Amino acid sequence: MPVADAAAADSRPIGPRRGVRGVVPPGADTAGPAARTLASRLPGFPWDRLGSAAATAAAHPDGIADLSIGTPVDPVPAVIQDALKAAADSPGYPLTRGTRALRAAAAGWLARRHGVSVSPDDVLPVIGTKELIAWLPTLLGCGPGDAVSFPALAYPTYDIGARLAGARAVATDEPERTDGAPVRLAWLNSPSNPTGWVLAPARMRDLACWARAAGAVLASDECYLDLGFDATPVSVLHPQVCGPSHDGLLAVFSLSKRSNLAGYRAGFVAGDPALVAALLEVRKHAGMIVPAPVQAAMTAALGDDGHADEQHARYARRRGVLRPALEQAGWSVTHSQAGLYLWAAHPNCDCWESVRVLSDLGILVSPGEFYGPAGVSHIRVALTATDERIAAAAARLRALR
Ligand SMILES: Cc1ncc(COP(=O)(O)O)c(C=O)c1O
Repeated sequence: MPVADAAAADSRPIGPRRGVRGVVPPGADTAGPAARTLASRLPGFPWDRLGSAAATAAAHPDGIADLSIGTPVDPVPAVIQDALKAAADSPGYPLTRGTRALRAAAAGWLARRHGVSVSPDDVLPVIGTKELIAWLPTLLGCGPGDAVSFPALAYPTYDIGARLAGARAVATDEPERTDGAPVRLAWLNSPSNPTGWVLAPARMRDLACWARAAGAVLASDECYLDLGFDATPVSVLHPQVCGPSHDGLLAVFSLSKRSNLAGYRAGFVAGDPALVAALLEVRKHAGMIVPAPVQAAMTAALGDDGHADEQHARYARRRGVLRPALEQAGWSVTHSQAGLYLWAAHPNCDCWESVRVLSDLGILVSPGEFYGPAGVSHIRVALTATDERIAAAAARLRALR
């Protein structure tokens, strides 16, 4: 989806912080029902702040190279489309826990590709992982008096989930050193969005030990697990990290990036059998169900590695074009060992100045500040554009030298 559409679709006024002025007449009571909705706990939508850079980039005579969001642009593999079509006649309610075939395919993929052994009973499909991330603190019963931690530089939805639950949101890479309210849920994200950093198994192991001792849930967002380039990411459920037991651990896997399925809304969570059972219970009551045709598509996707290898090779090629072009134009790329982003800083520019300079070249990137104050010197450059747009961006960067 072009960024303009993504931002427009996701940023309509939804609540009192940004919306109430638009729907309540001047002078009316702004402490009415809208002011008490969950929307009042949420910050503004970050991508709204990219509007003028997006307009500048879009005005480039050769068109925008939109590298600001991680939305896949390559086709949904035929094997997956065929499975979706074959399951189109699905009049009944789907299973919240997922079909047996889907859960077996998920467990098979984890074993085959990542050396992780889970029972299909401990797999639960979700309606895209953003949904689970936003609601996990609530589903786990976190609330006021609890803390939810997430990395200092992070995908914004961990923070949103904490706020929706009314819990304290703590941005830290050291949840074991957090003061104040006890951490009930600690998020990891390896490979990281935005930095592409891959956590060492030893660090994950320490955190798993800490979480078990502290009675916290350690949830690992492994959205980019299949997209290692300079490092091989390891799942929190790998025996090297957690030993033979998954107690206290949840791992969250998305098919959006591996299989170009962002439009299908397809992911799953696996791990501690008691936690997965508790999530299933709430999700059954709340109707949080993956549609049957999408379950069939996921089953096909998880059973096929060929398309994922092809997609990995595509991103590796794009990375190989974009990274040297950015570096030659004066940005230094750090971390960025895996995942779909280059994390880059320029010695003379903060993140917003880099965004501005690049938008003049028709290249739209996101400012590191979107992911936390520690990102103020960096930009995040996504590899999710066509080969042609990546080549155009690289040519423009080369001309900047
Ligand atoms: C770190 C991370 N987690 C989760 C998601 C959500 O993915 P989806 O909801 O498409 O499964 C994203 C999307 O970009 C992400 O970057």
